[in-house]
Amino acid sequence: MEKIRVENLTKIFGKHPHKALQHLKNGMNREEISKMTNHTVGVGNASFSVNEGETFVIMGLSGSGKSTLIRCMNLLNKPTDGKIFVDDENILEYNIKELREYRQNKVAMVFQHFGLFSHKNVVENVEFGLEIKGVKKEERYKKSKEMLKVVGLEGWENHNISQLSGGMKQRVGLARALANDPEIMLMDEPFSALDPLIRRDMHDELLDIQSKFKKTIIFITHDVNEAFKLGDRIAVLKDGEIIQIGTPEEILDNPENEYISNFIQDIDRSRILKAENIMRKSVMKLGRLTKPKIALGIIDESDFEYGFIIDRETGKVQGVIDADDVLRAGKEKINIEDVMHTNFKAVNKNAYVKEIIELALETKYPIAVIDDDERFVGRIHRGTLLKSLV
Ligand SMILES: Nc1ncnc2c1ncn2[C@@H]1O[C@H](COP(=O)(O)OP(=O)(O)OP(=O)(O)O)[C@@H](O)[C@H]1O
Ligand SMILES: [Mg+2]
Repeated sequence: MEKIRVENLTKIFGKHPHKALQHLKNGMNREEISKMTNHTVGVGNASFSVNEGETFVIMGLSGSGKSTLIRCMNLLNKPTDGKIFVDDENILEYNIKELREYRQNKVAMVFQHFGLFSHKNVVENVEFGLEIKGVKKEERYKKSKEMLKVVGLEGWENHNISQLSGGMKQRVGLARALANDPEIMLMDEPFSALDPLIRRDMHDELLDIQSKFKKTIIFITHDVNEAFKLGDRIAVLKDGEIIQIGTPEEILDNPENEYISNFIQDIDRSRILKAENIMRKSVMKLGRLTKPKIALGIIDESDFEYGFIIDRETGKVQGVIDADDVLRAGKEKINIEDVMHTNFKAVNKNAYVKEIIELALETKYPIAVIDDDERFVGRIHRGTLLKSLV
């Protein structure tokens, strides 16, 4: 379901933004407007929508307009033109009271440089939003403590902010945003100031939090690997304009232009593509008790070298066979289950290709892909794995 819809959003900086807007509408580009009028088009004509529970990443180089755009989402920047719908209400039409309500209850922002109060301790920082809302001391303490636990800072309540490392500070920032229980989280390069290893921890933390709380997140980054790891969908911003929107797989498969191809060339695909992105769904499924003759017919008609034996009731994989096995079963008049191999490998549909490659080295069979209930959902051939990386 659509949570946010942005239509033709433009933000121009300068003395007479509406004059410059006319130039933009008449087809002048950012550079020309800058030269001629000394105005900066921070964001030009951006349109996109974000679904409920989605992590929508906006990626672009420094100066491309990322902060300008995300600050429009809570009206820290007042757009020059366009519409921003949240739950089908145009937030640009909000009066002061409605806007306050929106900022206090619906959205929370996490900043790159943490935005914490150094004179308040950890828990007081987390409580801040609740305090503004007038939540009673006891209740906001309880909620904040709970959120500190969620971000892995249990026991740090009374420490000073200055005693914390960067990663811990950002965990406090996250806890503060979460404590308000916002429906939407706006995150402007929240992890950019952190070391790579700590950053990776924070990615996992965020994915974990997201699987629990299912917030609608707009996440800004200039790091393509971060974008592709966290984003359900990604918008690429260049010179204030969105030049492509898509899922990580769509962008990898179909970069809109050379700029994007260059941008994504350093991506480590094995950490982004998952089993379900590269598996083949059409599978030759056989039952344990399928007669060898019939099995052979099925194998013959398919282009698969191997067949998976699936339990018809539970949907679980029981084994794998090839045509030679079936021939042998026919000749020796024994059942498929007597010739199937049970030493196959299976991976969850959310496993990354990187992990699957390691598994693939341990088996000659295709790899079974299973869902959370261990039901068979697809198969991956060893060759497909390598192809997915180029
Ligand atoms: N308050 C402002 N007044 C004038 N120009 C501004 C203002 N804020 C941003 N800009 C200009 O708008 C453009 C986009 O800036 P913005 O901060 O949105 O980029 P960014 O993608 O967030 O960059 P970074 O990765 O460095 O944070 C830049 O050219 C910047 O100089
Ligand atoms: Mg920025």
